[in-house]
Amino acid sequence: MAPSSSRLAHEIELHDQKPVLADARAEIERGLSTDPKRLSPKFFYDQRGSALFEAITDLPEYYLTRAELSILRSHGDEIAEAIGDNVCLIEYGSGSSTKTRVLLESCHPSAYVPVDISREYLLHSSRLIAEAYPWLKVCPTCADYTAPFGLPASTDGLTRVAFFPGSSLGNFEPVDAKKFMQGVRKVVGKQGWLLIGVDTKKDESVLNRAYNDPGGVTAEFNRNILRHLNERFGANFDAEAFEHLARYNRLKGRIEMYLVSNSQQDVRVGGATFRFAPGEQLHTENSYKYDLDQFVAIAEATGFRQHEAWFDADDQFMELLLKAS
Ligand code: AVI
Repeated sequence: MAPSSSRLAHEIELHDQKPVLADARAEIERGLSTDPKRLSPKFFYDQRGSALFEAITDLPEYYLTRAELSILRSHGDEIAEAIGDNVCLIEYGSGSSTKTRVLLESCHPSAYVPVDISREYLLHSSRLIAEAYPWLKVCPTCADYTAPFGLPASTDGLTRVAFFPGSSLGNFEPVDAKKFMQGVRKVVGKQGWLLIGVDTKKDESVLNRAYNDPGGVTAEFNRNILRHLNERFGANFDAEAFEHLARYNRLKGRIEMYLVSNSQQDVRVGGATFRFAPGEQLHTENSYKYDLDQFVAIAEATGFRQHEAWFDADDQFMELLLKAS
């Protein structure tokens, strides 16, 4: 379908690229047919999953969000000075976080383009942003940002600055992370920038704690993938019959998250039945951690160069400002 633009209340302009949802059911069935079984972490995020993730970001053990926010607060002026005036800020994600607001306030872009596949959530958060910043042109773009997408014509002529916070790149496999960065480079063009938050390699006990909070919020977030499959795809998982497991894999430089079946059980998804052995692990997420050098090498291989890299006071998280090369 052809993309369309329409103006809505609070002068936001929806740029709808009409993303086609991949065949999620087939993808789930394929993942459950492999050995080891796996599910894409994108299935964590129904309404409850998003709320659980929000709760994770407030946990004392989950330092990532606080650390990134402190970097953006401390270095907002330097970011603003580097990217200059007449900027179009493109956020990969709905832009519902405090980080967005901190950046908008320090950089005062001319236009703000949050990009998200979920139209409803995108419109909701865009309206809140438009209300809070009446001077800002808000152009929500409904698109799958892992595939090529176009920007609204009303942002033509502005310097494009992409923003990808939260170390979300860590949830991509390294080859997909590179493809994603190449895609961003295409979107921002020769004069563009990328501001990206990346979690770093560090003491394993700190990493393991961040994904194993004692109150079990992360465990519930992990199990929610099964509840989501039950509700949306008519599966019949007993979520309580799976235990949360998260551990750092030093060789691969990533946190791995699994759900471990506590008994032999058969689960129905669509027309197919999948057998879980007692102790069998269902792989639900990887969260890659990068050193600065390692990440800069990826940036350089994908059409960017490092302009600046900032760390939080405890050296736990980095924010890189990359310039198109
Ligand atoms: C969204 N993403 C960057 C989070 C992470 O840290 O990989 C998801 C998450 N999984 C467990 N806790 C948080």
